[in-house]
Amino acid sequence: MNPASGATGLRVAPGGPLAGTLSLPGDKSITHRALICGALATGKSMVRGVLDAADTRATANALANLGAHIEWQDGTVRIEGTGARLVPPPQPLDLGNSGTGLRLLSGVLAGCGVGVTLTGDASLRRRPMNRITDPLAAMGAAISSTQGHAPLVLSPCVRLHGLNYRLPVASAQVKSALLLAGLGAESPTRVEDPFHTRDHTERMLPVFGARIERDGISTQLWPGTLNAATVDVPGDFSSAVFFMAGALMAPGSHLVLNGVGINPTRTGLLPVLERMGASIEVRHRREYGAEPVADLHVLSAALQGVRIEAREIPGLIDELPMLMVLAAAAEGPSVIEGAGELRYKESDRIAAMRDGLAVLGVDMEVAGDTLHLAGGGLKRGGRVASAGDHRVAMALAIAGLATPSPVSVDDAGWIATSFPEFASLLQTAGAEVGNS
Ligand code: S3P
Repeated sequence: MNPASGATGLRVAPGGPLAGTLSLPGDKSITHRALICGALATGKSMVRGVLDAADTRATANALANLGAHIEWQDGTVRIEGTGARLVPPPQPLDLGNSGTGLRLLSGVLAGCGVGVTLTGDASLRRRPMNRITDPLAAMGAAISSTQGHAPLVLSPCVRLHGLNYRLPVASAQVKSALLLAGLGAESPTRVEDPFHTRDHTERMLPVFGARIERDGISTQLWPGTLNAATVDVPGDFSSAVFFMAGALMAPGSHLVLNGVGINPTRTGLLPVLERMGASIEVRHRREYGAEPVADLHVLSAALQGVRIEAREIPGLIDELPMLMVLAAAAEGPSVIEGAGELRYKESDRIAAMRDGLAVLGVDMEVAGDTLHLAGGGLKRGGRVASAGDHRVAMALAIAGLATPSPVSVDDAGWIATSFPEFASLLQTAGAEVGNS
């Protein structure tokens, strides 16, 4: 059988073990950035190991509508860049579910002076956009939102000036949008990131020839043009985490995840798992261009509860739904502080996970931005909702490995946003997976 990534539900039965060697699909954040840089550059770029999923396809379609020539063939994308001479598209650009696509493109388009409307699906249109429109307007962009949300409307032919900006929220999307806008500004742009959010943009822009200087928490970018480059995309750590968690919880597991990106701004979950008693070995460290990569060896382990401080959140933000399940399955209580940003993701991930965990017999208490989980195990299986959110769907599906009876995730098609091969890879690793 070919278990779901479609519009149906996904059912995962308890057990495992998960075993073998897997390669994960390409990193979503890095794929978005490589597509964007390739489309802005002069010449032909090649991006290998791309993530072929709904989010990255949405960004590629938008870039094609702006004049880039983009060819997908298996895991490789070839891009004939525009040399930053983007053409105004005939209709609004629809970024679907992709916050990264919409926010990064806002910066690109502001910097290139192209008039365009940017929009997305109902989830994306609920997410906050002032965090992007305010600093872009401060650079001189003529950008307006719909009461703080998409659709965003950019007017053409504005010359931006560089900005000195300290991020008020932990957001790599905002930081990246400002740096991309800065390429087309009249003077340098400096962004301070006290939260240490993911730094893929800062690493990639110099690969395409941009002048960037980094000093502690600050990054300065000089305006300029990009030249074509070749990029190898590492496996997505955030996708690998679902398999790590499954292997940790399913007794007798031994899983090897090959070629996973281990950029330190992304791997904040590793020290947390270590504190919980997990054994994850990071072997064969190497570089894919500007990004560090390794193979991860995971053995099942008896997990203990853990305390996460707010300062740790940016380094594991996308891993929090999975971490909530692990904390519920662990022995003893866990506390997760500073989780408020989760309310502004593809769903309100605090509400969605609280509801899903409640079905599985787990009470997650929410006090402001702090989450409390008692631990002691997932009490039962059942039917849970994806809440239209790929990471909620995958975290709850993996929970099914550690519940007394199967877990069925309704509306699991959202997983295709970031990880279309999730169900089939999980089955390959030894899980009992089916449609429901
Ligand atoms: C991303 C940044 C993070 C993350 C998202 C991808 C990126 O969002 O949650 O999945 O590629 O820059 P924020 O910028 O909102 O923190």
